[in-house]
Amino acid sequence: MPDQTDARSMKDAAKRSWGAFAEQYAKDVTPQLEPLYQVIVDRAGPKPGERVLDIGSGPGRPALDIAKRVAPGGHVTGFDLAPRMVSLARETAGERGLENVEFLEMDMEAMGFPDCCFDLAVSNYALFMRPEVIPSVRRLLKPGGRLVVTAWGDEQAMLAHSLAANVMGKYMPTNSPPPPRDNYALGRKGALAKALRDAGFTRVHTEQASFAYRFSTPGQYADYMWDLLGRSRPPEVQAHVGEIKAELSAAVAPFASRDRVEVPFAAVLGIGYR
Ligand SMILES: C[S@@+](CC[C@H](N)C(=O)[O-])C[C@H]1O[C@@H](n2cnc3c(N)ncnc32)[C@H](O)[C@@H]1O
Repeated sequence: MPDQTDARSMKDAAKRSWGAFAEQYAKDVTPQLEPLYQVIVDRAGPKPGERVLDIGSGPGRPALDIAKRVAPGGHVTGFDLAPRMVSLARETAGERGLENVEFLEMDMEAMGFPDCCFDLAVSNYALFMRPEVIPSVRRLLKPGGRLVVTAWGDEQAMLAHSLAANVMGKYMPTNSPPPPRDNYALGRKGALAKALRDAGFTRVHTEQASFAYRFSTPGQYADYMWDLLGRSRPPEVQAHVGEIKAELSAAVAPFASRDRVEVPFAAVLGIGYR
């Protein structure tokens, strides 16, 4: 069980690494997730006049999509741990002339909102990393309000990630501690529905949303996965970047056709009502 100092330094490390990755996330990851944002907005069904919270909004999604849908009269608050993510989201809102969306720097484990103030809360690939926060999100919703949340699917569904994690895992020092969290946990069968019901949500519905990550070549997949997962690994792994990228290119070969690489991925999407 990490003590408070460990927990604080892990939080600082998460803030730094998400911040350092922010620009590249906006450029490379956000376009891959477009179909998923569309499904989230569709299932959330935002209506004019609603007040909406986006937890871990990164460079602004899906908050920016929802802002247009709640106008006139509605408002979206997105927040993120990493200041650079927040400033990118603000820049995009400014470029799009959106005046009914704000982005705050905040930790989901210390949310500073009054109870019962949102009609809708959404979170794409962020709240699922801290399932213990789900009950606090329920308290922020008005009675009848809804949460739409996505989690990574399990290892098979998240093949693009799990292939890469397996390759990089071989280079981890043998004495390295196990990862502090199992980010596939809520993607296992029934787990997200259980987490929502345990938090007090009713009319819980979950579904799998299946897509494909698209790359032009195996080498582009290798670069993408290295940037996503490799840069934060220990120096022992960083020292093998060349071999790791070559292995990643080989590992993804079964998904390559003449002119593209398509690796399936699936999110689990959950909806619950307060
Ligand atoms: C995978 S990104 C998702 C970003 C965005 N929702 C999207 O779909 O593009 C996860 C985000 O969660 C943020 N995050 C991680 N831990 C957080 C915390 N404790 N509180 C708030 N945000 C957090 C990260 O900074 C990052 O921007």
